[in-house]
Amino acid sequence: MVREEVENVLAFDTGDFLPAIPDSERAEYIIRAMKSVQYDAITVGDQELLLGESFFLNHFPRLEQYIQPNLPIIILGKYLLPTNDENGNFPANVVLNGNMLFKESDSVRRGEMIFPSTAIANTASFAVRICGVIAPEALLFFPMDIRGWFEIKPWREALAEMTIQVEGNEFIVLLSHSGLSVDREIAEAFPQIDVIIGGHSQSKLEEPLIIGKTLIIQTPGSGRFVGRLDLKLTNNADLENYQYSLVPMTPELPSDTNITRIIEDYEHAFFTDKIPRPHIPVYPDSFEVASAEVCRRCHEWQYQQWQETPHAHAFEIIVERRKIYNPGCLSCHTTGFGHDSGYVCQDDTPQLINVSCIECHYSLPGHRANPHIIKPIPISKETCVRCHNNRNSPDFNYEKYILEVLH
Ligand code: HEC
Ligand code: HEC
Ligand code: HEC
Ligand code: HEC
Repeated sequence: MVREEVENVLAFDTGDFLPAIPDSERAEYIIRAMKSVQYDAITVGDQELLLGESFFLNHFPRLEQYIQPNLPIIILGKYLLPTNDENGNFPANVVLNGNMLFKESDSVRRGEMIFPSTAIANTASFAVRICGVIAPEALLFFPMDIRGWFEIKPWREALAEMTIQVEGNEFIVLLSHSGLSVDREIAEAFPQIDVIIGGHSQSKLEEPLIIGKTLIIQTPGSGRFVGRLDLKLTNNADLENYQYSLVPMTPELPSDTNITRIIEDYEHAFFTDKIPRPHIPVYPDSFEVASAEVCRRCHEWQYQQWQETPHAHAFEIIVERRKIYNPGCLSCHTTGFGHDSGYVCQDDTPQLINVSCIECHYSLPGHRANPHIIKPIPISKETCVRCHNNRNSPDFNYEKYILEVLH
């Protein structure tokens, strides 16, 4: 929409668009959707690396024509598909990252850069230099088997090379998957960077953070907002003025027909079981999955009270949001999802929609035969924060919330 409104639009993504749990099927659909958005450039985040080396290199190919020193050229306002990938999965015009390298010990690609570090978008009077970087901190908790095949150069070293101005008038934009606190340090260390578009920490910046002359912007996660930065530059590539907004992606916005089709394809594949269900052990594996109706047989009063709580209707909201095929939502809005005998789909396991008894009362099958001996384990705050985490329940307060669920 913005592309139709104004000229010289560049669209970027700064990583973590793939799921936070390894789910290659879902990742394929997301990459199709990314491609349909036609980003000019993206940088990758830690989540893109989760599915391992071959998935990564298949979907984020190294394009021969982009290998240094020939910088990729982005034509302002015109999205170009990489020529050697007409039908592939390449999610953007170019992937930029200046500090990920193959290992020195890799006998074939010994120490080579994985991606080009920068790209140039030219205007009549100046150039926009776009760079990409990831902070090593973003991968701190990654298991070695996932990151054993590449190395990350310290960002200071990499950025010193990337931001050297080859010609006079350049406006420098950094796509950074590093988190807000590292982005601040970058802005302090490299004042020549004009704009940092951050990622990783999912920080919701209502206004750009300004350090020296550098503007830092970032949008929170899950595609809830698109950040729009309108810049007016002088002929010398100096910033004259800017306007920034976080545009909320509300359900009222018109749907993109391409992306709607991709979602429908995914839903269809999920529904017809073409997609294996990822195992998300939200509900502890060692306990039994049973529907609320099973518990009701002996606990009618608690059942009636539970019916009055939002847990008994937690499925409705994801139906409304058209998310019933999204494992990332099912894991907390249904019963036993990811468990061998847990929720599968509405047709097969209609009794396991919503958050039922066992999600709070971890129970063994023996309880029903010997209720006085085998009892569900006592509830604690940990029982709740499994679902009521910072992200999905920011106002959660155990003492207050518990009062609303007691039977
Ligand atoms: C066949 C009847 C029966 C069924 C079915 C049953 N329970 Fe119970 N449950 C009991 C009885 C009886 C007690 C009381 C035990 C006692 O106080 O010694 C009990 C106690 C409990 C308690 C309190 C435990 C405690 O420490 O005091 C919880 C929680 C509970 N049941 C949850 C469940 C859940 C969840 C289900 C469904 C998976 C369920 N029950 C199914 C009979 C049943
Ligand atoms: C880690 C568990 C978890 C996951 C994953 C999760 N939710 Fe939730 N969701 C919750 C909890 C807990 C609440 C209740 C928050 C509160 O009121 O404090 C909630 C509330 C909501 C609400 C607000 C309900 C209302 O009436 O205000 C919506 C909408 C929602 N979730 C949609 C989703 C969608 C869509 C997804 C998948 C993209 C999702 N959730 C994934 C746990 C989760
Ligand atoms: C959101 C969490 C939650 C859900 C869902 C839930 N309970 Fe409870 N239940 C509690 C809490 C909290 C207690 C208080 C006892 C404790 O702290 O263990 C409790 C207590 C109980 C007890 C012990 C007697 C009593 O009333 O205090 C039984 C029996 C019980 N629940 C059955 C059920 C049944 C049956 C369902 C499903 C229809 C259910 N619960 C759903 C949180 C929950
Ligand atoms: C399996 C995931 C899950 C677990 C475990 C869970 N909840 Fe929830 N809870 C939800 C979801 C999802 C919602 C939102 C439902 C909706 O609004 O549609 C919710 C909503 C609530 C609400 C209503 C909040 C509001 O804004 O009105 C309260 C209160 C609550 N939960 C308390 C608890 C407590 C206390 C525990 C632990 C004893 C607990 N929940 C355990 C998933 C869970």
